[in-house]
Amino acid sequence: MNKISNFYINPKISYGENSLLSLKDFGFTRVCIATDRFMVESKLICKITDILDKNNIDYHIFDEITPDPSTEIIEKGLSHIVNLKPHALIAVGGGSVIDAAKAIMYFCIQLKKNFIEENKIDKPYFIAIPTTAGTGSEVTNFSVITDTNTKSKIPLTNDIMLPDEAILDPILTVSVPKSVTAATAMDVLTHGIESYISINSNIFSQMYALKSIELIGSNLLKCFNDLHNTKYRNSLQIASCMAGISFNSSGLGITHSIAHGLGSSFHLPHGLCNAIVLPYIIEFNGRDAKTREKYIRILEAMGASNINSNMSTVILKELIIELNKALEIPLDLRSLNIDKKQFDAIVSNLAQTAYKDICTSTNPVSVSINDLEDLIRSLY
Ligand SMILES: [Fe+2]
Repeated sequence: MNKISNFYINPKISYGENSLLSLKDFGFTRVCIATDRFMVESKLICKITDILDKNNIDYHIFDEITPDPSTEIIEKGLSHIVNLKPHALIAVGGGSVIDAAKAIMYFCIQLKKNFIEENKIDKPYFIAIPTTAGTGSEVTNFSVITDTNTKSKIPLTNDIMLPDEAILDPILTVSVPKSVTAATAMDVLTHGIESYISINSNIFSQMYALKSIELIGSNLLKCFNDLHNTKYRNSLQIASCMAGISFNSSGLGITHSIAHGLGSSFHLPHGLCNAIVLPYIIEFNGRDAKTREKYIRILEAMGASNINSNMSTVILKELIIELNKALEIPLDLRSLNIDKKQFDAIVSNLAQTAYKDICTSTNPVSVSINDLEDLIRSLY
């Protein structure tokens, strides 16, 4: 019997300029905002709190979320939720903030399960408002937090963490600096490409992946050169969201497996790691005929035509390299001033971590630890 295929689509997505105004009609009177200090100090949070003030909605701000949120931060956030019993939790920030809010939501429900029957648990309405266009975390059901004691990453996957609503208002992303705009958008492009060629890709995930690739192809450079343009900004937010919907269903590949280890070992931004690793993995996965065919569709989404499968790998790889150059992203790890000895000392560990990474299981070409070690070495 054939395997039954599923594709889930959630949450409600509000997008475009002024989409934040949808907060005024959401019908809750007591909310908790989860965010970071920067959002409060830069007063960017006022774009949200002004709307809540005008509509007499009580709110409390938990602003202690830091990058790579730890279990300690999650516990603190959880105590706020448990004490305040808000009708809604609004996460406002980048991927780390949204991931932390998801984990807070997850542990809140787990905690309540100890005392209340599952079907009687009141789950706060969960709204995710991303302030970068990159992770797609607002539409995925997983989160990564860091164990405070062991410093290891804890991946969580549960539909409880899928937001009920995502709001993509470009007013929150226009002040994102050039380098962050470039790196986060390259994360989106990597999501689109890895999701499209994943062994678990399907007709729905492929449609979202290709559209996200197309949106990045036609808006990223324009946005990079015109940072305050809300039309380009919103297109990148929508691309990020679509790529998130896509990889939530299909999974990713070894660009991410390698980037995860590099990011935590050398404290590098996730999108920057993906941008550097992606061309090498495009070449590696190009040994698979089906993937080479898919590269043609990816290139078409990015505006190329008349490509055949013999050329598709080289052309896609070159296109990503040229895009990185235009975005002022270095092409190798050497250019990031990473110490060669320090790098050589951890290559084998990086390869083992990448091998065990969840994203490796959906890569279109199966890899050995040796393959990964060779690939990681070539990045320097
Ligand atoms: Fe990513």
